[in-house]
Amino acid sequence: MTAGWSWDYDGYEPQRERLAEALCTLGNGRFATRGSAPECAAGPVHYPGTYLAGCYDRLTSLVAGRRVENEDLVNLPNWTLLRYRCLPDDGPPGAWLHPDSETLRHHDVHLDLRAGVLTRRLVFQDARGRGLRVTHIRIVHMGDARIAAQSSAFRAYGWSGAVEVESVLDGAVRNAGVERYRDLDGRHLTDHRTGFEPGGVAWLSCRTVESGIRIAMAVRTATRPARPAREDATGDRTVQTYRLPIGPRRSASVVKTLGLHTSLDRPAGEPRAVAVDSAARAPAFTTLLSTHKASWQRLWEQGELRVPGEAGRVLRLHLFHLLQTLSPHTAELDVGVPARGLHGEAYRGHVFWDELFVLPYVTLHFPEVARALLMYRHRRLPAARAAASGAGGRGAMYPWQSAGSGREETQELHLNPRSGRWLPDHSHLQRHVGSAIAINVWRYAQATGDRGFLHSAGAEILLEVARYWAGAATYDAGRDRYRIRGVVGPDEYHDAYPDAADPGIDDNAYTNATAAWVLARGLELLGELPEARCEELTGGLSLDREELSRWEEVSRRLYVPFHHGVVSQFEGFGDLAELDWGHYRDRYGDIRRLDRILEAEGDTVNRYQASKQADTLMLGYLFRPEELGDLFGRLGYTLDDDVWRSTVSYYLRRTSHGSTLSSLVHGWVLARQKGAQAWDHCREALLGDVADVQGGTTGEGIHLGAMAGTVDLVERGITGLEAVAEGLRVAPVALREIPRFAFTVCLAGHRGVRLRMLPGRLGVRLPDSAPAPLTILLPENRRGTVDPGQERWFRLG
Ligand code: BGC
Repeated sequence: MTAGWSWDYDGYEPQRERLAEALCTLGNGRFATRGSAPECAAGPVHYPGTYLAGCYDRLTSLVAGRRVENEDLVNLPNWTLLRYRCLPDDGPPGAWLHPDSETLRHHDVHLDLRAGVLTRRLVFQDARGRGLRVTHIRIVHMGDARIAAQSSAFRAYGWSGAVEVESVLDGAVRNAGVERYRDLDGRHLTDHRTGFEPGGVAWLSCRTVESGIRIAMAVRTATRPARPAREDATGDRTVQTYRLPIGPRRSASVVKTLGLHTSLDRPAGEPRAVAVDSAARAPAFTTLLSTHKASWQRLWEQGELRVPGEAGRVLRLHLFHLLQTLSPHTAELDVGVPARGLHGEAYRGHVFWDELFVLPYVTLHFPEVARALLMYRHRRLPAARAAASGAGGRGAMYPWQSAGSGREETQELHLNPRSGRWLPDHSHLQRHVGSAIAINVWRYAQATGDRGFLHSAGAEILLEVARYWAGAATYDAGRDRYRIRGVVGPDEYHDAYPDAADPGIDDNAYTNATAAWVLARGLELLGELPEARCEELTGGLSLDREELSRWEEVSRRLYVPFHHGVVSQFEGFGDLAELDWGHYRDRYGDIRRLDRILEAEGDTVNRYQASKQADTLMLGYLFRPEELGDLFGRLGYTLDDDVWRSTVSYYLRRTSHGSTLSSLVHGWVLARQKGAQAWDHCREALLGDVADVQGGTTGEGIHLGAMAGTVDLVERGITGLEAVAEGLRVAPVALREIPRFAFTVCLAGHRGVRLRMLPGRLGVRLPDSAPAPLTILLPENRRGTVDPGQERWFRLG
């Protein structure tokens, strides 16, 4: 059964190639290779890329007369390159063949999502009717994370002779996958060495320029029929050339098997020796294929969400890419959640707040991976502390963009491709990223019951973020309120008041409300810690009574602005000019990147009530209405249903959805309140990458937050699923377009809890092995218990 499990591109369309490469990327959580044509090196149409999680390097470039540093996820040598041409017995050698050849007659790409196998088929035919059919099959092994393999089969039609094949390991690569970054230096690899070992193994070693990570790739090329290879090694590439006899009844094949090892890996070893050993010892392709498929089967059992129909197929593709970026192998690594997956170079492989949208799914299905992702943040707590104290603050100020070291990696200048101008980038003022990390810590612990983590690394993160907020808030005697000033909210458009000399806006409602939440959770956590641990922590962090009473005070007195009966995105938002949305839509069509449009016109989006993405509405994504009401109540404000509904409709009319996260959050919020436009936004979130809604950005890497978020939208958004101390709280809302689905999660010590949603009914099944019955809390104070081994159905109102 392949229905719903395949992703296909029929025909060859050069302008679609980058999108297909990104969406056909194969990975195993440790490294990934874009789904590029093996025949092609990087150029305007094709962009092969291989990325290793956590492998970053920093370079300095001169742009707009300034020296700027940028840390990139490094594009590794291209192991997939395979050149071939026909050598007919009765004529001169043919041209080298590739998808752009004039003789291409057929081309299709097929991604098998169940098995993690990418197949690319090409048929060439020359003017004399001589044909060559080529089938490439590629895997990046999900079981043995050091290995990838690519098998290429050749069949001749109407001629005989040989195919000449060059199996190349190409180290002359650079980071050049994003047009906007073309002025930046992208040569991250140096000290190349190449060579050959017996058994058809070629190797290439190099290191990254600044971070000094040593990388080795070894490729074993096996051919049928076997012929001695000519082996050439230049400084940064190896080429093995084969002449494979071929004819109508005689096919030929080439299998490249990659071993990848770097100095980041454990157990440590000399990279070249380990890579060569891995490639040399790897089993034959058929065995690799079957062990790879078996690993994927296990992964799907643990990770799958079953949704029928086309939405289900897109969700499966989203899950596929999520599992390839963050797999059980990730639990062994020191890596965060890269916003664009391991699928391209946009945002340079950096880690933003997007884990807020990714961790809920990962926690429910792969709690060990979620914990590892939080440990990435914990290891960078010293860097976040240094950033806070460097800015004159206390606690931990996590960077908006994080990569290797945990220091701030947000670019200082960004290019507006519309105007060609390099502009100062103030997005690093998105201090709310710290709250996202703290929220993840808390929710991970809630869902898993992992007190060990919460009381150790988790507590340190949460308390240090709380401490940062308490210090960042300044008292305004006139208002008798605390304020957080000079920040940027999730809506990155507004990075300053119109005509202000300094960047930043004041009292971003989302930032302040989440800061108050973190402070309150910090206090709650200290209250629940065993006494000895509490003393140890407060002693270690030098947290005294005076400081804690300030936390209490700030958590109750942070200022949240309102205007016209709605929550203001920030102080003064309601005073900004209204944008003539119709005018800009008519003029430009797609106005998602309104900031760029206005800047190119010599105007600025800072002047208008126009948001890039959900900002205030993020509060409705993160908190249930009662939680939000309590949070505002604690701050001395009333946020009832009326205020919230008015707030939602206010910002709906003033948001351009310039981020894929925006439609996801709007879809979620509207689905929860049964809003009419819910599906429009959910649909847009589902289409984000597959239809490349943001206009050409998917080819530069998938949008992992939106991909994971759509899966979570079904699992938690529709069901209202939440692990609480008493058991499992559910509060389903019907989404007509996704009426039925099923998934299996790990919750509070129960593995394999199966949930099935049908119109008007929710089923919960507990595995036999569950240690205890599970209490289900339903709306209107209904409750029920599910025993181990039992499935129970609950009627929904
Ligand atoms: C969004 C951010 C997001 C980043 C990385 C930006 O376009 O505005 O919210 O964190 O992309 O995905």
